[in-house]
Amino acid sequence: MVEPAPAVEIDGVTKRFGEVVAVDDVTLTINDGEFFALLGPSGCGKTTTLRMIAGLDLPSEGSLRIFGEEVGMAPPDRRPVNTVFQAYALFPHMTVRQNIEFGLRMRRVNKTERAERVKQAIAMVRLAGMEERSPAQLSGGQQQRVALARALVNQPKVLLLDEPLGALDLKLRQEMQQELKALQQEVGITFIFVTHDQEEALAMSERIGVMSQGHLLQVGNPREIYDHPTTRFVADFIGRTNLIEAEVESAGILRLQNGQLIPAEITAPVGTTVAVSLRPERIRLHPRNSTTRDSTSSHPTPSEASLNDGASLDGAITDVTYLGHAVVYLVAVGPANVEVRCEGEQSDPLVAGTEVTLGWDHGAIAVIQD
Ligand SMILES: Nc1ncnc2c1ncn2[C@@H]1O[C@H](COP(=O)(O)OP(=O)(O)OP(=O)(O)O)[C@@H](O)[C@H]1O
Ligand SMILES: [Mg+2]
Repeated sequence: MVEPAPAVEIDGVTKRFGEVVAVDDVTLTINDGEFFALLGPSGCGKTTTLRMIAGLDLPSEGSLRIFGEEVGMAPPDRRPVNTVFQAYALFPHMTVRQNIEFGLRMRRVNKTERAERVKQAIAMVRLAGMEERSPAQLSGGQQQRVALARALVNQPKVLLLDEPLGALDLKLRQEMQQELKALQQEVGITFIFVTHDQEEALAMSERIGVMSQGHLLQVGNPREIYDHPTTRFVADFIGRTNLIEAEVESAGILRLQNGQLIPAEITAPVGTTVAVSLRPERIRLHPRNSTTRDSTSSHPTPSEASLNDGASLDGAITDVTYLGHAVVYLVAVGPANVEVRCEGEQSDPLVAGTEVTLGWDHGAIAVIQD
């Protein structure tokens, strides 16, 4: 049996603009029907990557296949892709219907088919009843839907979305995230979604590719990217984390910069410098010398038992931020400040100056060698 070709295969692609290397030797496969996010800070090469898939920019090196067909040099209209840009650039003097219909007119699709496809696209983005309005009579979210319908009406096999929600306020943005996700499942085509917003990428995508300075650093599903970052950059860019410098002391043991030893899954040779990524919400905080911790007891409390399963660090609280649904503590552990986030805190927050032990489960940390 022949394997179906992936939607997009980017193979060793580099793009230079004069001296600037916008995309640096990127290799990436995006599957058919996948919701894939390209995530990274401003200037990292997301738009350039998308433009090369669309055929709006040509690679300086490398090859690009869409559904198994080499398209590196093919013009945009020869590729089964459509793009939705952040600035939706609707034609202001045309109605919603005319805007959506425009591409089909250009391609001389007959009137009956045009009407049918426009109707479908309008239904998909839930704009029925607004066909005769002009863009100026629509909200930002509705204009965004017109831009989506205008791309979908061409029945692309791959839809490229370049920060399509960037112009919307937070609440509308979150609504549109859910809607776009549902729409993608409904139409079943491949979506490649560019964003610099890590929460948006985590919330929407099946897989995420994280870019920095033209490089594709890591590809994985949201959980892999969040729980097992392979570089300091990814650990720090996705969510919040504590990066603690450490050195391999012996097999399975790390020495943290404050001298403390912790167990960790690591196979690197003794003496290798690594970083430990420890998420604030994965840390448990136990006040020392309090009634909850009785060192003479021969029967450890459940919290103590789990503390011993993983590892622990001693420190003192230096700052407390009360957020209602959570309390964020800064804890000085030797020279490092460790952030701890206690969600759904019931009792009174601990105060600055309290001596505490930080605990976490085995597997809650990611050891990074980069
Ligand atoms: N036409 C061009 N000529 C010269 N340099 C360019 C051109 N297009 C992009 N660049 C440069 O290439 C790099 C990557 O740009 P790109 O637009 O791909 O970034 P991006 O990740 O989309 O950023 P943003 O989140 O700000 O949109 C940047 O340094 C940018 O200045
Ligand atoms: Mg961009």
